[in-house]
Amino acid sequence: MADQERLSQGLTGVGKRLTEVNESLGEASEGAAEASARLICAGGELLEGGDGVRFEIEWNGEAAPAFAIRHRGRVYGYLNRCAHIAMELDWKLGKFFDADAEYLICSTHGALYAPESGACRGGPCRGAALVGLNVFEADGKVYMRRT
Ligand code: FES
Repeated sequence: MADQERLSQGLTGVGKRLTEVNESLGEASEGAAEASARLICAGGELLEGGDGVRFEIEWNGEAAPAFAIRHRGRVYGYLNRCAHIAMELDWKLGKFFDADAEYLICSTHGALYAPESGACRGGPCRGAALVGLNVFEADGKVYMRRT
């Protein structure tokens, strides 16, 4: 067998083993994300400026509504509680954005919140902010990190 042929077969074997290692690392990373975080939804469920996904969290020892949205490519999560009065924001389940998908809007009195920080940007919530949750995306899924 020519040296070049043996070298080629060797490289093919190495490439195959690298693929197996990468697959195994991918599974391990997904497993690690699941171990330290709670799955919220598939990443594809959160469209840019589209409907949010509602879920429940434990907050101060009680079940409380929360939501996740996508804004400028990133996912964010908040307690679904207006900083003005403790009301849920969405006027219809999952509708958190204003008409331009620029702000999160409270359906009760129209408080506006920055999607990337939860900070009040207008309305009766002045100086306050939504309670942010540690939401992130990994392996095409959206998780909330356990605290
Ligand atoms: S309850 Fe949200 S603006 Fe008043």
